[in-house]
Amino acid sequence: MTTPIPSPPALPFLGNLTALEKEVPQRSFELLADQYGEIYKLNLVSRTTYLANSYELQNELSNEKRFTKAVTAALVEVRNGTGDGLFTAHNHEENWGIAHRLLMPAFSTAKVRDMFDDMVDIASQMVTKWERFGPRHVIDVVEDFTRLAFDTITLCAMNFRLNNFYKETPHPFVTAMADFLVESGYRSNRPPIANTLMWGSNAKYQEDLKVMNELVDQLIQDRKDNPIDKEDLLNIMLNGVDKKTGKKLSDENIRHNLITFLVAGHETTSGMLTFTLYYLCKNPEAMRKAREEVDEVLGDEQIRLEHIGKLKYISACFRESLRLTPPATIRVVESVEDTTLCGGKYAVPKGARIGIVASKCQTDPKIWGEDAREFKPERVYGENFEKLPQNAWQPFGYGMRACIGRPFAWQEAHIALACILQKLDMTMHDPGYSLELKQTLTVKPKEFYVHAIPRNRST
Ligand code: HEM
Repeated sequence: MTTPIPSPPALPFLGNLTALEKEVPQRSFELLADQYGEIYKLNLVSRTTYLANSYELQNELSNEKRFTKAVTAALVEVRNGTGDGLFTAHNHEENWGIAHRLLMPAFSTAKVRDMFDDMVDIASQMVTKWERFGPRHVIDVVEDFTRLAFDTITLCAMNFRLNNFYKETPHPFVTAMADFLVESGYRSNRPPIANTLMWGSNAKYQEDLKVMNELVDQLIQDRKDNPIDKEDLLNIMLNGVDKKTGKKLSDENIRHNLITFLVAGHETTSGMLTFTLYYLCKNPEAMRKAREEVDEVLGDEQIRLEHIGKLKYISACFRESLRLTPPATIRVVESVEDTTLCGGKYAVPKGARIGIVASKCQTDPKIWGEDAREFKPERVYGENFEKLPQNAWQPFGYGMRACIGRPFAWQEAHIALACILQKLDMTMHDPGYSLELKQTLTVKPKEFYVHAIPRNRST
């Protein structure tokens, strides 16, 4: 006998759509988990979604023989821009395999090391800006980390400078992409009929897509007209031949993948950096340890590649931040056949879409203890991290469809935080601020502002 999977009461025509907050659906998913427990089901009119909220389920669902990635909800809409690019490709699409095989080596830790100087270049622009503006200047953290992440991925992937730190307002591409992602999220939570009636929003959506496509097409054309001798991601996509099929990527798929890297490469990394800075400002002892480590490892020297592996406490801070507030909040899998979960307790049919709510699964008290919601980098420091139960920490997803950009984000974030802490004391603009979320495709802190005070390291 299986136990029925609970579900909030549904309304005629609207199902459970009204149970989700429009601005931050993630908050609703978490509140519903507090109410309904380890698994519940939502009727979202065009689809039924199960939400999994415990370590046991996250672990069980991390099994590609039984559950594969599903491109659903907001990702279906994001496909309007990213098509069969790596992130939004369906498992059966041939281009996923070709791009995966061509690009995995390009994103390896060894290759990402070659991008070190470009990453330092952009991080230094940001730190210099913060230093020059001085301690009274109010820094919009999300905005500047977004500039950082965007400029870094465009420089490293396609040798193009967006120069966001030299402009008052972000590059039009950045704004178009942000609006496109927000609207994609809204579209996925509206009944289909409502979407067709939103003429104003639809026109703006198409315009944003046009801005994004035009810039990327122009970059591809420029590279074809003016080839360069650099093994960046764009050259690998333009020139690479897949050994298995003998095929190259089409221009359309290259465009999809470039937009994918821009989406996936800026949202999540800037989110991770912002959350981590927030936790450090809120936890002075952790901030002290992080700064002490930077002083020990870097001292007054300009950051070098060999420093990165020595920043072990900083790594733990990022891990702990990703555990508590993973920017990619939910990944969705699909059951390969009729099956049961939790040792036969719940039945789910073949094709059931199950969202793994990472913030809930990664704070399951059964694994992380009663203080699971507290920021304690020590629990993921060094050996403690190695000893975690399998799949307990999963902010980069799982298996074949896990994050290809992990080494890239890891190196970029370490450089940025180390350069900041080496030069600046960071304090919150509003000392009483406590975390609020804003959501696009991913989540980030809302209205989090800081001051950067140049350090006097002799005291
Ligand atoms: C996939 C998280 C940075 C590119 C994913 C997935 C997660 C994730 C959870 C799996 C999604 C799913 O199963 O549906 C993160 C986090 C990041 C980060 C937390 C930073 C802290 C990056 C960067 C890039 C990138 C910097 C590229 C430059 C991708 C791509 C995929 C992916 C292309 C799809 C891989 C595939 O399905 O083949 N990421 N990501 N990510 N990520 Fe990231």
